[in-house]
Amino acid sequence: MERETRAEKYGETATSEFAGLERRARGLAAAGGRRILGIAGPPGAGKSTLAARLARALGPALAVVVPMDGFHLAQAELVRLGRADRKGAPDTFDAAGYTALLRRLRTPGAGVVYAPAFDRALEEPVAGSVPVGPQVPLVITEGNYLLHGAGEWAEVGPLLDEAWFLAPDDSLRVRWLVDRHVRHGKEEAYARDWVTRSDEANARLIAPGRARADLVVLAVD
Ligand SMILES: Nc1ncnc2c1ncn2[C@@H]1O[C@H](COP(=O)(O)OP(=O)(O)OP(=O)(O)O)[C@@H](O)[C@H]1O
Ligand SMILES: [Mg+2]
Repeated sequence: MERETRAEKYGETATSEFAGLERRARGLAAAGGRRILGIAGPPGAGKSTLAARLARALGPALAVVVPMDGFHLAQAELVRLGRADRKGAPDTFDAAGYTALLRRLRTPGAGVVYAPAFDRALEEPVAGSVPVGPQVPLVITEGNYLLHGAGEWAEVGPLLDEAWFLAPDDSLRVRWLVDRHVRHGKEEAYARDWVTRSDEANARLIAPGRARADLVVLAVD
């Protein structure tokens, strides 16, 4: 069933209980064959934190995290394109590379598939960072634009077996985001400006994806 239709039909299901989320993830891992769970949401919503927590709970034999962030364009390419000042916007990623990887992950062959990851210290993607073995039943992929309806991003939704949208309180989320920038060495004023100008502009683009999710996660206990 098309995702938008599904949301319209069943409405929004909201939850915040980690145990319930873990149960859903275990159910996907036990469904037989390879399943892909997507976690979308605005910058700083806690997508990477939740994905890592789920993967820890299920263990490496059942789940692996493949971040959309691994498909950030390299800084030199962003400079060449004149997009470095809005790193994190939809057109600063290799969206087609991401959907190609999701297609490969849906039909595992005999060997390991390597996914890239984003190095927050270098602020660069690093190829070959995440090995996905052919027997791992659940791939958890997470990032901003999984449910973004425009361009190549519209291809992502149909490649997911289930999609969650993480939507904590906005003022809390902005605080987490500023704190994370500061922890990674940015000045507080610079961090606030970047979050207000860049991250929150992206948050507005991401928000409509909520209606396409199978589950909305408001806060994780
Ligand atoms: N439930 C929570 N309670 C407190 N802090 C949290 C919670 N979830 C996430 N955080 C903190 O908020 C910050 C953002 O979390 P995280 O990096 O997981 O978000 P994200 O959605 O992956 O962000 P991005 O879109 O930038 O990749 C981190 O510093 C994290 O430690
Ligand atoms: Mg993240």
